[in-house]
Amino acid sequence: MLAPAFPAPAHAEDPPWLARGRKGMVASDSAEASQIGADVLKGGGNAFDAAIATSLALAVARPQSTGLGGGGFLLAYIAHDEAFVALDFRESAPAAASTERYDAAHRRNPGGPSPSVYGGDAIGVPGQVAGLAEISRRFGTRPWVELIRPAAELARRGITVDGALLEARDELLKDVGRWPELAQRYAGLLEWLSPGGSAPRVGERLKNPDLARGLLLLAEMGPGAFYDGPLAEAIVRAAAAAGGSLTADDLRHYRVRYREPIRFSYAGCEIVTMPPPSSGGVCMAEVCNILAAARQGGGIDGRHDAAHLLLEALKHAFADRARYLGDADFADVPVQRLTSRAHAEALARTIRRERTQAPERYGTTAPTSGPAASPPDDRGTSHLCVVDRWGNVVALTETINGTLGSLVVAEPFGILLNNQMDDFVTRPGTPNLFGLVQGEANVVAPGKRPLSSMSPTIVLRDGRPVLVLGAAGGPRIITAVLQVMLATLDGTPLEQAMAAPRLHHQWQPDLVFHDGPLPDDLRLDLERRGHRFSDERRTASVNAIMILPDGTLLGASDPRRFGRPVGVP
Ligand code: DON
Repeated sequence: MLAPAFPAPAHAEDPPWLARGRKGMVASDSAEASQIGADVLKGGGNAFDAAIATSLALAVARPQSTGLGGGGFLLAYIAHDEAFVALDFRESAPAAASTERYDAAHRRNPGGPSPSVYGGDAIGVPGQVAGLAEISRRFGTRPWVELIRPAAELARRGITVDGALLEARDELLKDVGRWPELAQRYAGLLEWLSPGGSAPRVGERLKNPDLARGLLLLAEMGPGAFYDGPLAEAIVRAAAAAGGSLTADDLRHYRVRYREPIRFSYAGCEIVTMPPPSSGGVCMAEVCNILAAARQGGGIDGRHDAAHLLLEALKHAFADRARYLGDADFADVPVQRLTSRAHAEALARTIRRERTQAPERYGTTAPTSGPAASPPDDRGTSHLCVVDRWGNVVALTETINGTLGSLVVAEPFGILLNNQMDDFVTRPGTPNLFGLVQGEANVVAPGKRPLSSMSPTIVLRDGRPVLVLGAAGGPRIITAVLQVMLATLDGTPLEQAMAAPRLHHQWQPDLVFHDGPLPDDLRLDLERRGHRFSDERRTASVNAIMILPDGTLLGASDPRRFGRPVGVP
């Protein structure tokens, strides 16, 4: 592991990004949302109830990252049944979506804002409300209304402005500077983020009465309001006004899907994580299997070798991601083969200890690479975890994709709509917002779900959950979750594992990224082996809970960002 970049304190002086509890824990990207979840636990709700309340509060407190207009994945451990559940409530493509439609839009406005990122055609059919409703129906114990009310109240009273919201505002202003037409089209959103014409101050309260109204309607009418009622009408109207194809039928036909989680073992533990349409589980299994196979072969010596080996394993996994992964309901995705030990052993044998190799040596020549996009930060996604007193464990990662999603707001309900369509290949051969080059399996098609990197994950030792985690940050989700998990499996305390700088490689662009100070000797050593470094300092934001041997729940929110865990004593 690399040296910690952020303070990793002793127990007696836990910083605000760590919390301890005995009867429950919520870790999320917002202190206000974590508190709302912890209150549900205190009031007798279970981890699923608390996750729903936290998620809805995040929709208010982190509108740039998640909300009713997005989608996500749930991975959970149900203590009573000793069983796992993986729920996919990711967006799906509208019936009229096609590569031709994106191509025509690009040709109409070459050099303009990308149609899969901004405006109506960026919007996938939102799965968030269907997902939360399903979690409530199957696993919750408290009434839906009770879980929505605190979020509506937060929207009415106003969220506390933090650095994350101001970063999102800056990003929007940058986009507007580049494409001034956005200012006119999304004037309402700009105005909301600039009350009185200037940036709100950190600590100030920013109200969202429209969203409060939308949430209350959802509380009163139930999820039907979103898919076949007044909220649905507002969404279709907003998408159409922004040039999109999303219809009332698309909303009416949306369904959540149960998936079979990916399970693999590493370092004496079992890891349970998300299958396609997430790429997270397949990539993490592939990397861990390669690491294990390479270690068995011997010759791995010290942290320089370990860092090189990790980067090589990531290059293999992301090359396979690009070539094979997509929505398994539409494409033939060889999950078994990619996560098998035999595949990892074959790849491990190609790794050269002294030298990294050209991208085409990493398992794929299929997708072509274009210019590397500048990947955004961790702003369009949010991960939360909850553990309750009964031992239920919830990992929930949710996203509207890019910062502030498509920028389209369904008025008058304040619902910011996602731009998840950019996670598809919408123009073959062109990298997406995250610089990811992807293949045939992820080409857009009606009803299909775009490939994701979201990786809600639970680690078990001797059959019992010991760690739950996940992250925001596009493809950096996978590398961040992996590195925090690998460090803790090596015995590193959670606080140090969270604080350590992280390496990232996604095969294309052929560059090593890192998000904190890297020891000079390590950088020089990796450069000697042929790795080239990017100067970008993008990062992911992890939330995690560790269940310590004495039953204490240790919650941690990434020290780089603005999240806070809240425990129930
Ligand atoms: O599902 C995915 O992989 C992306 N939509 C996640 C985007 C994300 O984490 C945004 N943060 N920058």
